[in-house]
Amino acid sequence: MPTLLETALSRLDELGQISDSPSHLVRTFLSPASHQAAAKIVAWMTVLGMETSQAPDGTVRGVLPGENPSASPLLLGSHYDTVIDAGKYDGALGIITALAALEALQQKGVRLPYPVHVLAFSDEEGTRFQTTYLGSHSLTAPLDAQTLAVTDASGTTIAQAIARDSPAPHAPPIRYAPGEARGYLELHIEQGRVLEEARQPACVVTSIAGQSRLTATLTGRADHAGTTPMALRRDALTGAAACILAAESLARSGPPLVITVGKIQIHPGASNSIPQSATFTIDLRHPIDATRLASLEALHASFTHIAAERGLELLWQPVQDHNATPCDPALTSNLVVSLAAITESTLTLPSGAGHDGVMMTKICPIAMLFVRCRDGLSHHPDEFASSADIETSIDILVHFLQSLPA
Ligand code: GLV
Ligand code: MN
Ligand code: MN
Repeated sequence: MPTLLETALSRLDELGQISDSPSHLVRTFLSPASHQAAAKIVAWMTVLGMETSQAPDGTVRGVLPGENPSASPLLLGSHYDTVIDAGKYDGALGIITALAALEALQQKGVRLPYPVHVLAFSDEEGTRFQTTYLGSHSLTAPLDAQTLAVTDASGTTIAQAIARDSPAPHAPPIRYAPGEARGYLELHIEQGRVLEEARQPACVVTSIAGQSRLTATLTGRADHAGTTPMALRRDALTGAAACILAAESLARSGPPLVITVGKIQIHPGASNSIPQSATFTIDLRHPIDATRLASLEALHASFTHIAAERGLELLWQPVQDHNATPCDPALTSNLVVSLAAITESTLTLPSGAGHDGVMMTKICPIAMLFVRCRDGLSHHPDEFASSADIETSIDILVHFLQSLPA
């Protein structure tokens, strides 16, 4: 009979094998691999005796009634989608450790006084549509028309993806009214190096940094690569290159500002045609909202200038913008007590990465636990958290779950 930890580790491996690509790990919103991953999570929830459901957007929920089934539930969870060429811990660890903590309580014969709902969100990374948090957003409110109209690389809108690709297109949504749940707790790898340097297995998160995502499209004129003199060209790709370098130099001049261009598409994309258009993503983050917004304006002004100089048109399309989100002080201090009880540390940290808690604050207080990851590496196949640290983090969850009042 495998131990709790062995089960958790083998589940991480199992989910890590489920991919839309044979060469690397990638699971995007409502993709075939996502359906397989969701089905596995449902099966694991069922083993625990949970009542399961799946929303049209793919988010999975398992409900474990407590001693008092009408008490306000605690929500635990994370996301099961991934970036492209991902590691197996980002997201998956939060779902699998939530189930492990509940199993630990069952093994000890402890029935919590309140219900626990484990949530596995269908989209946090925004890999398919560049819009993050589709799963947790749908849990708090219906997606608005503007979001539903966002398209993926093949031109499919989010609304069409839900109608066509969802395993449960007609299921009732999973939704919470503000105040319905007592809180949301997410366990996640740190994705940074602070815990390693502090030689601590885990810490509690104080806030989640704001972020802005957008796409920029530069349009010039396609022309012949052999016959068009350099001075007469309106090359969208060289314009994009100038913009991307301007973004890098803006970010380098204002730490902790970070700006990333992670994806670019050009048209027509042939070695002997001058690029007509270039569309690229921008991900811009700063812990202070006012500085983030001022940096975004400075970037827009710089792109506008570069486009004008090169005879290009600029289309600047904001995709998402959210402010820094503080975690709830009361739930967070409960979690610090549990952290201290297990590790003797009270270390807290702000999160530079985005998390579903941003959306969950619309309906309930949130708290987050970070687990050390090797070299702080994330969004990379070598992402790694040790079994000892995972075990410690499960112990912290178990302590926390038992510490909450009825
Ligand atoms: C999620 O991983 C994000 O911060 O982009
Ligand atoms: Mn994540
Ligand atoms: Mn991530």
